This record gives sequence, structure tokens and C-alpha cells, in this order.
Amino acid sequence: MLISKPADIAPSCITSETAFQNRRKFVQTLGLASGVALLPRAAGASLQEELTPERIVTSYNNFYEFGMDKTDPAAHAHELTVAPWSIEVSGEAKRTGTFALEDVLKGLSEEDRIYRFRCVEAWSMVVPWRGVPMKTLLEKFEPTGNAKYVEFTTLKRPSEMRAQRSYFSGIDWPYVEGLRMDEAYHPLTLMVTGVYGKALPKQNGAPLRLMVPWKYGFKSGKSIVKIRFSAQRPVTTWNVLQPDEYGFYANVNPAVDHPRWSQAVERRLPSSLFSPNRIPTLPFNGYAEEVAYLYAGMDLTRHY
Ligand code: MTE
Repeated sequence: MLISKPADIAPSCITSETAFQNRRKFVQTLGLASGVALLPRAAGASLQEELTPERIVTSYNNFYEFGMDKTDPAAHAHELTVAPWSIEVSGEAKRTGTFALEDVLKGLSEEDRIYRFRCVEAWSMVVPWRGVPMKTLLEKFEPTGNAKYVEFTTLKRPSEMRAQRSYFSGIDWPYVEGLRMDEAYHPLTLMVTGVYGKALPKQNGAPLRLMVPWKYGFKSGKSIVKIRFSAQRPVTTWNVLQPDEYGFYANVNPAVDHPRWSQAVERRLPSSLFSPNRIPTLPFNGYAEEVAYLYAGMDLTRHY
């Protein structure tokens, strides 16, 4: 992102624990004989890949409200209070207002989905998320026919988010992301409430975060407090900060480089300086079969 650390600096937190063991543990936790049963067919692409160890998923993070280093979120997110939590819904919908999180989630069934997760900084993970299909959540608010986009605003609370108190963060808080309605309604799009079979840790965006597995990780806004339906495309944080580097769509695309680095390969965590674990990046992060139709006829080098 803004912060130009070389993408291939190895995370310091990597040890010898194998991802395979982790996957088995997760599957056992859920009482299932095989990970296959966890997944809808559409998410099957990541089935053959090892899970990234939970320790890495929860300690190598971007959550700039807590600092710019990958270790800052795990070190400082405990300062955040996540209960009670409410969501303000506004714009082109029949049911608007402020709702307690419990009411927003009431009646929706959580699902476990193993997804590839590719950060724009060229590292990637395979993560067992838990969440509710975004479509079922958004439909509760009865968006009108004018709703073409949905905007997600995340928490601004400088008293608990230390980087929001710092002039040097360079970001105009709050962090905002958005999707076209058809992207938000796609069956792969999740509103995440947990990871590794547990409640979502604060550093991963508790209590509610976006997950759009075919897009770069920065689209996955964390600690969401507002949902707004609109006819116009939302103004999103990274797109405004650096429009040449971060587009609104942010679909994973190995053919379109970031101006400062290639997007053709990724460093699958765990990786280290001596074992970088580089693999080719796939169009739409491996979900092309499921999502490419959403962008039919669009020039993806222009709409990056
Ligand atoms: N959401 C908020 N509110 N603030 C952030 O700084 N960082 C984004 C995204 N969501 C970010 C955010 C980026 S750049 C990435 S790669 C992912 O969160 C990281 O998610 P993870 O820490 O669960 O891996």
C-alpha cells in the first residue's frame, strides 16, 4: 500500500508448524471428516491448498488504524471495544436506521468457507473464514431498485485506534470500501464474523468484516459500522489516496501490475527469505469461473 516496504520481507513469525496439521485441526474442530464438505462448489478452487496457520492469519495483518507494521494490529487491537456494536444503514433501502449487531445477524446462518486471500502487496494466504452470505444480510434492509452500489464504512474511534490519533497515518479516516450490488450479492461474498472456527479476533476486523475472495485484500474493510446503498459509485479510501495504484474494482489480475511491483506472482504464507514459496497469481484469484461474467465486456486494464 502507501507504505513502501519491500513485498518480499519475510514475516518474522513463521515457524516450522505445517499448514497441513493446521488444516486437519480445523476440520476436526468442526467435526468433519474432510474439508470438502465445508464448501459450496464455487469455493472448491482452494480445496487442494494448505491452510495458512492460524497464528499467521492472526498476527501478520494490515489494519492501519492500529499502525503501519504487520505486527501492530495484533499488538494494539486489544484496545478496541467490540461490544456493544451497531450498524447504521442508510441510502437506497426501505429499512434504514441504526441496528444492534445481534439484530443484523438474527436469523442468518453462518457458514464456513475456505478462501484464498490475496493482498495487493503480493502475499497470500488460505483462510478458513466463517460468515454470512452478504446477500442474505443486505436483503434484510430491502434495497430499492436505485441501489447500484453498497458502501461499507469502518470504525473511526481515535480513543481506541491509536493510528487515528496520529497525523502521520496519511489516511483520511474512516476507512471506506464499496462494491457494485451484483458483486455484493455474489454467492462468494461474505460478511465475516469468525475465522478458524472462532469469533473474529479484533486484529482481523471484529466483529464484522467484508470478504470478497476474488479481489485484493484492501477491499475487505474491517470493523464495519455503516452500510449505505447508493446509485453512485462510492468514494473509497485507497482509490482516493492513490488512484493510479488502487482501482475501485481491485480484481486480482496477474496481467495488470501495480505501478511499483508485479502482480504476476505471490508469496504464499508461510514463507521465509530462504523458502519464499512463490506461486503464480491466478486471474480473479482463482475464482474466474465463478465471477468473470460480472465483468464481461469491461476493459480490465482500465477498470483495475
Ligand atoms: N480495513 C480497515 N478498516 N483498515 C485497514 O487498514 N486493511 C485492508 C483490509 N481491511 C484495512 C482493512 C488490507 S490492505 C488488507 S490486506 C486486509 O484488510 C488484511 O486483512 P487480514 O489482516 O485479516 O489479513
